[in-house]
Amino acid sequence: MQSRISEISSSLEKILLNHAGLTLPINRRSKEIRRLAEAVHAISDQYISAESSLQWQLFKKEELRRAYLLYYLPVNLVKLHPVLDELFSHPNIKCFEGTSVSILDLGCGPGTFLLGFLEYIAKNKAAVPPQIKNVELWGVDQVEENVSTAKKIIAEYISSGAFPAQTHGSLNLKSGSITSPRFPFPLLPKNKQFDFIIAGNVLAELDSETASLLAQVLEQLLAPHGTLILIDPGTRKPSRNLIRFRDILIEQPSLRLYAPCLAQGQCPAFYNLKDWCHQKLTWNPPHIVTVIDQSTGFTKGKGIQYSYFTFRKDGKSICDLYRDLPQEKIWRVVSYPIRNRGEERLFVCNGRERILLRRLNKNIYEQNEDFSLAQRGDIVLVDDSVKRKDFLDITKDSIFKIITKNNETYY
Ligand SMILES: C[S@@+](CC[C@H](N)C(=O)[O-])C[C@H]1O[C@@H](n2cnc3c(N)ncnc32)[C@H](O)[C@@H]1O
Repeated sequence: MQSRISEISSSLEKILLNHAGLTLPINRRSKEIRRLAEAVHAISDQYISAESSLQWQLFKKEELRRAYLLYYLPVNLVKLHPVLDELFSHPNIKCFEGTSVSILDLGCGPGTFLLGFLEYIAKNKAAVPPQIKNVELWGVDQVEENVSTAKKIIAEYISSGAFPAQTHGSLNLKSGSITSPRFPFPLLPKNKQFDFIIAGNVLAELDSETASLLAQVLEQLLAPHGTLILIDPGTRKPSRNLIRFRDILIEQPSLRLYAPCLAQGQCPAFYNLKDWCHQKLTWNPPHIVTVIDQSTGFTKGKGIQYSYFTFRKDGKSICDLYRDLPQEKIWRVVSYPIRNRGEERLFVCNGRERILLRRLNKNIYEQNEDFSLAQRGDIVLVDDSVKRKDFLDITKDSIFKIITKNNETYY
């Protein structure tokens, strides 16, 4: 599956606008848009500053739900696409069994990641085998109003024809808490397992006892060939909280980290309070996001930060793609290039160790020229670097080669 610029479809854009009572073209100077921008600001403020346990209450207010739908739903939805691209880029992975595929969205809000999955399979018909005739869409959210919005929007999406013609979509959305000690009962059927479980922007605030219990439940809910995807905002606090949950999940006997880490182990970003791990996605924002950005001064239209982890039960991992290469030489770029006078620096990580690389400009040679082109998320081969006190030096004899960029592998 080759990567391309992420975007939402015009069908989904129309459904969202219609649901919010707006039509194209949008008058960005209208009172309506000003109110919408204020509501987007209010959601952002609430997430930055409010008591975390109370954040979900913002979804009780109609104008904030409407703003979320038009702005945060598209912004969050597209984060799923590179994660799925990366999953399907594995040459030997089986994500489906039988004629049905089931997706469970935890803390589904207005149906963000169920729609994200549908949008993905609508655009990537090759990703889903032709024998799949039924897509079971399951979701849980503690806010009843979110569940009813999700039901409406997804039902409309399915009947809009955006959905692959040969497949049938069935909807099972429930209101309730995923952190209740009884979860998954009575919300999900006994012994039900899912092909995909997606938890987006909902897990970052778990206390450690709840996180441990939920990790066990997620392990049980995941089918043997299933994929668990966690996505959170790529800002420091939620990202570090997500890393903490990652470190709990890797202790579950049957779960294996598929991506982005190239090795299993406690995350090295966690040791330094200033570190976290995030990706950056460039996309084509829908017009309404651009208009709201112009009004709020936000910049989501220019690029979106996010953190993610993908787990599987079948032992597969993204590092299988590099099996022919020495594993200790394969790294993922986890920073922007840091350009100083006469040198460039980059942080790379393999999931167990995070290191700083430096290349002096006088040491630019053909075999390390990729150093200037490397971007966050790229997988690189580093060989014959020289150890210094605080970093590894890429010298004229070192190799630095990008081997995967945007889920395309080059070696
Ligand atoms: C920030 S929104 C994310 C919505 C959607 N997943 C997205 O990424 O756009 C967080 C959602 O999680 C829900 N939520 C928070 N805690 C929950 C819990 N313990 N059980 C179920 N839903 C929860 C909230 O009601 C809200 O809809």
